[in-house]
Amino acid sequence: MSQRDIKKVVRQHKELEDFYTGGFSVKGKAPARAAAKSSQDDGGEMDKLVKEMCECCQCSLGGTRSNCVPGEGNIHAQLVFVGEAPGADEDEQGRPFVGRAGGLLDKIIAAMGLGREDVYICNVLKCRPPDNRDPKPEEIIRCMPFLQRQLDIIKPKIIVALGAHAARTLLNNNMPIGQMRGKFFDYYTSSGFGPIKLMPTFHPSYLLRNYSDDNRRLVWEDMQKVMAELGLKKKK
Ligand code: URA
Repeated sequence: MSQRDIKKVVRQHKELEDFYTGGFSVKGKAPARAAAKSSQDDGGEMDKLVKEMCECCQCSLGGTRSNCVPGEGNIHAQLVFVGEAPGADEDEQGRPFVGRAGGLLDKIIAAMGLGREDVYICNVLKCRPPDNRDPKPEEIIRCMPFLQRQLDIIKPKIIVALGAHAARTLLNNNMPIGQMRGKFFDYYTSSGFGPIKLMPTFHPSYLLRNYSDDNRRLVWEDMQKVMAELGLKKKK
């Protein structure tokens, strides 16, 4: 390996570390700090929807949850992250991504020059599946309309689908996440708004379970594409 190649690898590694520790500074205006969308404030509509979610008992998870986890963040956000389902920490607190996976998601969001207050974070399922098992198809079918309505209220510019369950549910396919990630897909809301660009990427829990620079680099590359779409530039 030449000195030049070695320097390149070292630089890439440093960039990767910076990404996951929030060391990047980002040029440009964070989307949520930009002017709110011209549409009227739909906070009332979201509040009504949240109430509906939290009263929902359409599947058995309604009987086993401690708290419903509807989602949280900026309803005028240009960027929405969609995960799979609440885990134990989320069930306890009623908030999405507050456990270990949430810690990593926070770092990813920070590295993009954003904060939780700039984005919206939610899940396909609003209630925790016992023992963190995979969501069942019937649970997804019952819960999906809530997610569709959330996305229709927010009308973001970009959706990041975290993991196979979120990507498959939103794109209505059965593809492996490894084949979907890194590419933008078109998503239309239930009222036909769109196309919204949807980027599938690996779930933070997967990154924690399968710790490797390669996986982390792939997510970083995916987020750079999202940043480019949002006009957020990494400083040289
Ligand atoms: N994993 C998810 O998919 N969602 C959460 O809210 C937490 C962990």
